[in-house]
Amino acid sequence: MNLLTAIRKRRAVRDYTQQPVSAAALRELIAAASWAPSAMNDQPCHFTVVTDAALLDEISACSKKWMLKGISAMPRPGHFRDLLSDPEFHIFYHAPVLIVLSALGDRQWSAEDCALAAQNLMLAAVDQDLGTCWIGFAQGWLNTEEGHDMLGLPRSSRVVAPIIVGHPKTVPPDVSRKTPLITWIGNIAPSIDDNSDPSAHRTLSHP
Ligand SMILES: Cc1cc2nc3c(=O)[nH]c(=O)nc-3n(C[C@H](O)[C@H](O)[C@H](O)COP(=O)(O)O)c2cc1C
Repeated sequence: MNLLTAIRKRRAVRDYTQQPVSAAALRELIAAASWAPSAMNDQPCHFTVVTDAALLDEISACSKKWMLKGISAMPRPGHFRDLLSDPEFHIFYHAPVLIVLSALGDRQWSAEDCALAAQNLMLAAVDQDLGTCWIGFAQGWLNTEEGHDMLGLPRSSRVVAPIIVGHPKTVPPDVSRKTPLITWIGNIAPSIDDNSDPSAHRTLSHP
């Protein structure tokens, strides 16, 4: 698949069939992730693949409980309190697979390295007609000592990207994007470089 097509086609999928994802397919996603750039080619990313439904249920329940404790610090506490208190709400949407990308050690840029690997993984999934969604809701709990122990992660590691994977039952429609905020500095002017409507760009003016 053309890369730009994959970029445009990727959606946060929250509705999955229970069809398992093969180990071969998961290995391909992880191989694509491993080709992401990393600072000083450190490649700090560790991939933990969870397909145990009971463990996923447990992580979902613990994450909800953990987040409810700190709910007042969240951006929309009322909305999140209702969602996280709902016993029907499963933070992984019952996806058959969770791949947790964690940074080994505490080196500078290891979180950025893992985020880049996560994007590669999500784009490679599009190519295989698989759905993915980054589940930030799991990050807080998984970064506690109990969360680390649940996945057998070393205490020094840091969970960066919990990504669910599965065969989509439905794919959501496009989610709107803000017009890119671009500052042009130098002699490359939008009117020369770009045939699209210049008014479509948000620009920052300098004082
Ligand atoms: C860091 C990060 C955390 C996210 N956490 C969640 C989450 O906990 N639950 C969820 O349903 N979606 C989560 N998402 C998915 C976003 O809501 C989604 O990417 C965004 O609404 C844009 O939709 P799109 O991915 O379909 O373009 C997260 C995405 C990112 C990048």
